[in-house]
Amino acid sequence: MAKPLKNLVQNHLGNVAIIMDGNGRWAKKNALKISKGHEKGVSIVKEIVEESINQKIKSLTLYAFSSENWGRPVQEINAIKNLIISAINDQVPELVEQSVELKFFGDVAMFGEDIISKIKYAESTTKFKNPSLKLNIALGYGGQQDILSVVRNISKDVLKGKVSLDNIDGALINRYSCVPESSIDLLIRTGGDKRISNFLLYQIAYSEICFLDSYWPDFSRLEYINCIEQYKKVSRRFGKRV
Ligand code: IPE
Ligand code: IPE
Ligand code: MG
Repeated sequence: MAKPLKNLVQNHLGNVAIIMDGNGRWAKKNALKISKGHEKGVSIVKEIVEESINQKIKSLTLYAFSSENWGRPVQEINAIKNLIISAINDQVPELVEQSVELKFFGDVAMFGEDIISKIKYAESTTKFKNPSLKLNIALGYGGQQDILSVVRNISKDVLKGKVSLDNIDGALINRYSCVPESSIDLLIRTGGDKRISNFLLYQIAYSEICFLDSYWPDFSRLEYINCIEQYKKVSRRFGKRV
């Protein structure tokens, strides 16, 4: 993230997104199976959700599984599938208590019937008029794949006469995209790599980005608060002369 300038007013923080990377290396470092790294990774989410509510953040969008992660060994994928099911079973009652609205996006159909029905249950049980936080989970998501599907679906509707070329604008793109938020204020990536790995390509146009060395299972509330504090002080210019 850029060096903070002396701003008089702190930036408002609405939408946060996190690339939760480093589970595999954390497991290796601790001489554990990769699945244990993912298990520990899931357990971290609870604290980050709690802190997001404390900070009055509007939405938290987490990268849990990318389109490209389907290329991993089948045992690892199965372990992740089981973790998704147990995380939903364990966490939904608490999310309901906290008024957190849960949404999954991406090609979730690829995960099979068991997970699809769990997702339906989780989403329908966590609907609130005024949620304390919107928690969006990217599952089987790829930014390029999403853009491709937006282009295809808008084109189809243009051919059908449902959409006119003049009406194609940013708002329409957001409606056709599977991503729940139209823009991200703060993007955090743990695990030491400084790349986007096909996450929210369209929505991070003006995000502040915080790359951290910690592996996701070691990520702490304190580090999260530090990122938020840094974000609040940055001069966000959006291309303008301010
Ligand atoms: C991120 O951790 C979780 C997923 C991609 C599912 P990794 O499993 O990518 O961890 P590293 O990068 O190998 O350490
Ligand atoms: C990004 O991490 C995907 C998730 C955190 C779910 P990866 O580990 O898949 O990304 P690369 O391979 O390091 O780019
Ligand atoms: Mg990784």
